[in-house]
Amino acid sequence: MMNKHDQIKAFIKDELEIFGGPLYMPETVQETDMEKTSVSSDIKTLSEFNSAIENCMNCPLGATRTNFVFGAGNPDADIMFVGEAPGEKEDLEGLPFVGRSGKLLTDILKAIDLTREDVYIANILKCRPPNNRDPNKAEIEECEPYLLKQIEMIKPKLLVALGRISATTLLRTKDSLTSMRGQVFDYHGTDMVVTYHPAALLRNPNWKRPAWEDFKKIREMYLEKRGAQA
Ligand code: URA
Repeated sequence: MMNKHDQIKAFIKDELEIFGGPLYMPETVQETDMEKTSVSSDIKTLSEFNSAIENCMNCPLGATRTNFVFGAGNPDADIMFVGEAPGEKEDLEGLPFVGRSGKLLTDILKAIDLTREDVYIANILKCRPPNNRDPNKAEIEECEPYLLKQIEMIKPKLLVALGRISATTLLRTKDSLTSMRGQVFDYHGTDMVVTYHPAALLRNPNWKRPAWEDFKKIREMYLEKRGAQA
């Protein structure tokens, strides 16, 4: 006998297979059967938080994911990188930035004397959108509170939004990446800077030079903020 979570997952999967497009979710399923996952204030550790939300079915991506991609890295990191959403490899492995763009991100971190163990990496969405499409409004609305809670728990001194979609989503703006680079924004009380998404650098190698300039500044800000703390 399937539990309620698996029944709902199977229902949404069937809908996707039959209609292939936007889901029709009967109100009875939405309101009666689906218990919304929410952010509890009792949570003490990131791993407790992961366990509390990893079966989230608040949006249809819950039915199509292979794995929930919570985030990874140092729970006490002073710097946190925020991508858009898991891709295919991340969905399969349950970890952020493990595909080609993740390898590039690891190399870039190394170039500024950081390892993945020094930093925390997460995405706005914790589940992969089909065919890696951009996150939609409803998905962001459901998932961003999880990111906010992660930030509240990790308390990084600096946030780095990776790519235009991540930056414009978090900052609720339509500005171009070019105009946002070099500025320091406030994301719910934490300083945030914006740079290229590693996947964009793989597609456009001529952006690697300006990205390198960004990362040198990111390194400076990071050291300055750590110094200020000492
Ligand atoms: N792209 C992202 O934005 N996040 C990942 O985790 C992988 C690719």
